[in-house]
Amino acid sequence: MENQNINEIYENAMSEINESSTSEKLAELKIKFLAKKSVLMSLLSSLGSLPPEERKEFGLKLNETKAKIAEAISKKEEELRKEELAKKLASETIDISLPSRKRELGGQNPFYVVKDEITDIFLNMGFEVADGPEVETDLFNFELLNIPQDHPARDMQDTFYISDSVLLRTHTSPVQAHTMQNANGKPIRIICPGKTYRRDDDDATHSHQFAQIEGLVIDKDINIGHLKATLELFAKKMFGEKREIRLRPSYFPFTEPSVEVDITCANCDGKGCSMCKGTGYIEILGGGMVHPNVLKMNGYDPDIYSGFAFGIGIERVAILRYGIDDIRKFYQNDVRFLHQYRKKA
Ligand code: DAH
Repeated sequence: MENQNINEIYENAMSEINESSTSEKLAELKIKFLAKKSVLMSLLSSLGSLPPEERKEFGLKLNETKAKIAEAISKKEEELRKEELAKKLASETIDISLPSRKRELGGQNPFYVVKDEITDIFLNMGFEVADGPEVETDLFNFELLNIPQDHPARDMQDTFYISDSVLLRTHTSPVQAHTMQNANGKPIRIICPGKTYRRDDDDATHSHQFAQIEGLVIDKDINIGHLKATLELFAKKMFGEKREIRLRPSYFPFTEPSVEVDITCANCDGKGCSMCKGTGYIEILGGGMVHPNVLKMNGYDPDIYSGFAFGIGIERVAILRYGIDDIRKFYQNDVRFLHQYRKKA
């Protein structure tokens, strides 16, 4: 009776072991057939009820069967382990014949390329780089630049107000006043690249945010010839040795006289084309001799000191340099635009 039971358990165990297809399943079978509370081991309790001569034989058979089941399980375990490993390796293969993913170098935004180039040109002429706040007071943005309250020039420079007297600067010119006030009457030769803001409806040629490079030179005996020579050198370095400049009379409250500076059109060499609207010239910046009021208000005696100043639109220079058709492209972060200026790896 017990022998028959043992055989039956053995047969069951073998067929279940053979059929098991995962190591988790096999671990369950190990418990089912070999653990202390397994069916096989529960037969041990019947040992006492057997006649003594059969006990030995039954015990042996039980141990033998247990050993056979254990062996079958460990064999199967090894088999499944190999199978599972093979499957894992197959699913995780790396095809080393595939082309590798290219690491592309990012490109510098053409805005910064041009900003750095302009800065370098002036650094080479002995200018230093100054800095000033983008959130500015009415005093520095307007008053100290000879633009009092209600001055009509303010209409051209409407901006974002933080309070009645604090605003986002409309130009980099307030850095002139900061620099003069911090220089303790010493000579000055600075440029200041920086962001500027105006209330504007954005389109291809207008942006509520743009950037300028301000320039300021103050010393004894500075005259308009210095302004012209400096800007001519800048124009040639930036746009090519063949470029000529011309100064046109203009008006800014903080300079007297004031000029608008044009360069000969690079497209037609000054002959006149659609790019320069037939004039042969393209306007690139504004400048002039620092107004005596501005010198006075910021700590310089206009009878002893004189100076010149200028303001260059960075996007404008980049647009001319690269033939960019929309100012918004500089900050829209469209990689198709930026990729055109990417350095090759
Ligand atoms: N601040 C002027 C503007 O934004 C540009 C400018 C003109 C700056 C003449 C100057 C200057 O320093 O002398 O329209």
